[in-house]
This record gives sequence, structure tokens and C-alpha cells, in this order.
Amino acid sequence: MKEATINKQSYGKTANGVAVDEYTLTNANQVEVKIITYGGIITSLSVPDRKGQLANVVLGRSTLADYEAGHPYLGAIIGRFGNRIGKARFKLNGQEYTLAANDGPNSLHGGRKGFDKQVWTAKEVPGGLELSYLSRDGEEGYPGNLATRVVYSLNDQNELRIDYTATTDRPTVVNLTNHSYFNLAGNGAPSIENHLIMINADRYTPVDQNLIPTGELASVAGTPFDFRLPRQIAAGIRSGHPQVVLGRGIDHNFVINRTDNTSLVLAASLYEPNSGRAMDVLTTEPGIQFYTGNFLDGTLLGSSGGLYRQGDGLCLETQHFPDSPNQPGFPTTVLNPGETYRSTTVFKFSAR
Ligand code: GLA
Repeated sequence: MKEATINKQSYGKTANGVAVDEYTLTNANQVEVKIITYGGIITSLSVPDRKGQLANVVLGRSTLADYEAGHPYLGAIIGRFGNRIGKARFKLNGQEYTLAANDGPNSLHGGRKGFDKQVWTAKEVPGGLELSYLSRDGEEGYPGNLATRVVYSLNDQNELRIDYTATTDRPTVVNLTNHSYFNLAGNGAPSIENHLIMINADRYTPVDQNLIPTGELASVAGTPFDFRLPRQIAAGIRSGHPQVVLGRGIDHNFVINRTDNTSLVLAASLYEPNSGRAMDVLTTEPGIQFYTGNFLDGTLLGSSGGLYRQGDGLCLETQHFPDSPNQPGFPTTVLNPGETYRSTTVFKFSAR
């Protein structure tokens, strides 16, 4: 299999004077992904439509200063713990840990300065880019020095693959993901509502008013959460279902159907009928957060040159379930010394 070519260029310096680079991975089909070392952010991802027309299908900001000024995790690596930990605390081996609360009472996406705001160390590897970051013991309240590696790679099958690994020197919790917002009609296209989505999940995790899972694994049957066959997103997000009301749309974790705990399985498929662009998401994770961009509110100027409004992009965040450290019934997110955390997600693009 031919490997993607990699180019590096400077992306400027952070406000604190740290140099940030941008890496461009390009494959034989002109699929091109740009990643910056700040937050490991995917700033742009160009894929062809059914006529071969390329468009960037992810939301972003235009400059490093824009990213540093703040944004809702556009394209970023999320860690040490993706999604919410209720009341910003958890117990591990009898000890209570207090985290930074940055989402009402909760800790969201790693805390105030999560992995999305760190400058990662980059190394070119065959067909891809390896980013590493050492999260120190106590950072954002989490125990253990966590050595994290994320490898982005691209092949000629138009697969963007993300391999995450991490090791620790004290027991801790880990849940890594990527927070890209997709719009297969192109960055800046008005809404993802016309996209069709299939989610390979018989169950999802309902939430309380703070968007913390209640612990129940509820059946999707007969609800707006039933995406087992491809359905238009519009149908679900305007329903009066109490869970949709709480999320202001869909912002829920789906329990991926799988027969074992480790293999790469199809979690979701997305299709945009006008362009014909399609994306499959495969993962080794047990869950996927389908988030319909409900908090985009017209206050953020995007790399499209226009403002992002509600539903202008959607996220498919492969993950362990939110609040797992406080939910004994959920698959564990504990990582112990001597173990290696491993997670893989593939975004596969095509057109039809
Ligand atoms: C995740 C969460 C959402 C929201 C976004 C970022 O998808 O589930 O509730 O916090 O990240 O805005």
C-alpha cells in the first residue's frame, strides 16, 4: 500500500512563544489532511465528491491565535478524559480525586487545559504523523504521569486512521478521542440536517439535566435515537423526546453493537446526498458520541469565513462512555501501571 506524503510548515507561535507546526498528509487521490501540533487539531480535511470535486469537510478556525482564543474543541485531540465526569470528581482505589469543573458542575473533555490546548511533540512516521504528550501527575486533577501517543495516518483507500496509546505510572482513568466537526457538503455549508446517518447501536445512554448518563442502557427502538437504518438527521433533532430536549438535539453516547471488546467495527456511516460524499467510522471503542453541534450559536467565526450556527457540523466521537469513572456498570476506563491503553478509530471516505 502506498503511503501518504507528508509536508511540514510553521503554523506560528503560541501567545507564550511556543512554536507550532502544521503537517499536511496527502494521498494518491488528493485527499489531504492538515494537522497542527497545537491540540493535535485537524484543521482541514479535503475529500472528493462523486464528481471528484474536493472540499474541506471539517470545521475549523483560521489561525493559531483564533484557536487559542477559544473554540468548542474543533478537530482536537481530547484527553485525558473525553466527555463529562459528573460533579468533577471520581474515586479510584478508595481515593477521591477532584477535577477542574469547566461545564457547570462537571469536568468536560479533560478540564480547563485539556490535551486540546497542549502543544504536542511531532515525529513523522511512515504514512503519518506521531504526536506525543506527557501529561504530568496531578494535571487537571488526574493522578499519574500519562505518556500519550497519537498517530494520524492516511492511506490510498481514503482512510484516515487514528491510533491512540498511553501508559501511566499510577492508576488513573483515560478516555481519548478526536473532536472533529464534519459537514460532508463542505465547511461553511449551512447544516448537517440533510445528512443520512446510520449508527450501529441497539442502545444508548440516556442523560440527566447535566448531560451525565443515568447509568441506564436504553433501547433505541421506537425513539429518535434509532439510527440502525440510515435516517435523515433532521427527523431526530427536532423531536420533542425528553432526551432530545435535554441535549437541545442529539448529544448522546451510543453503545456500539459488537461481539468482542477489541476489534475494529463499523460504528457509524454518514452520507450527504447532494455531494455524494460518505464517511464510515470504525472503532475499537465501545461507544460513540453523536453530537449535532447544538451549542454552535453564531458567535464563532470559522475557517469558512462565516459564522458557525447550530447544526453546521456534527461530531462522531469514539469513546468509552461518559462519566465511566463514576459508573460501575460501564466498561472500565481505569489504566494501571504496566498496562497500555490502546484505541483505534478509522474515518473512511468515499463518494457515490
Ligand atoms: C461534546 C459534548 C457536548 C459539547 C461538545 C463541545 O460533544 O458531548 O455536550 O460539550 O462536546 O461543545
